[in-house]
Amino acid sequence: MTHASHSPRSDADWHENAYDLVRGLAAYSGSLLADGIARVIAKHPHANIANAFNYKQVGCKLWAREKLFDCAGPRYRKIAVLGGWYGVLPAMLLEDPRFDIATAVSYDIDPAVEEVSRTLGSGFGERFRAVTADMYALDYRAIGADLIVNTSCEHIADLAGWLRLLPAGTRVLLQSNDYFSEPTHISCVTSLDEFRAQAALAHIDFAGALPMKKYTRFMLIGTV
Ligand SMILES: C[S@@+](CC[C@H](N)C(=O)[O-])C[C@H]1O[C@@H](n2cnc3c(N)ncnc32)[C@H](O)[C@@H]1O
Repeated sequence: MTHASHSPRSDADWHENAYDLVRGLAAYSGSLLADGIARVIAKHPHANIANAFNYKQVGCKLWAREKLFDCAGPRYRKIAVLGGWYGVLPAMLLEDPRFDIATAVSYDIDPAVEEVSRTLGSGFGERFRAVTADMYALDYRAIGADLIVNTSCEHIADLAGWLRLLPAGTRVLLQSNDYFSEPTHISCVTSLDEFRAQAALAHIDFAGALPMKKYTRFMLIGTV
């Protein structure tokens, strides 16, 4: 006789288990983001949410949130996250009680992520928005964000060209990495110095490197 806890699991079983587990974690922790992830698992079974919310991705975003708090403070009228994927970082920022953020908007060029992102951020109501857009085609003056975030710099062809679209003096938080072997990483850098040179910010408040198992992530916080 097979004991229930050792029975073989199908993908469908595992999917249902993941939903139950994350829903339990959401109830236990009171996290709106965890609740959003449970909803994504249920409503968008093909979204790669396990990749977007894996240990390393969360680590890089916790690092971003801590350093942002330390060097730029807690208050933002509007945060725009470009290349925001499923909206994990805006949700993490909105969830942190130390911050006072009126709105966070996740922009991504991939129309397939918009609905997933909306589901993930649904617990934050009007404070969370998801928009399908090419970051090179946006009017940043009209957007009027007091913080522009791009943790997908390794995914875009011309970082300096994109930064030139932002109004002078805009505060930015940027991340890139040296993970060259991933085919969608078209703009990796080999070092923090190279990232600094690539971005050529007018002012830098923070520049740092976070070594991960397979790659190093680089971050700059400053103004254009
Ligand atoms: C794999 S994800 C994010 C990885 C990153 N480490 C992170 O989590 O912040 C990169 C995202 O950038 C988006 N992207 C790439 N080029 C873009 C563009 N021109 N405008 C807006 N989004 C873009 C992709 O659609 C994708 O969802």
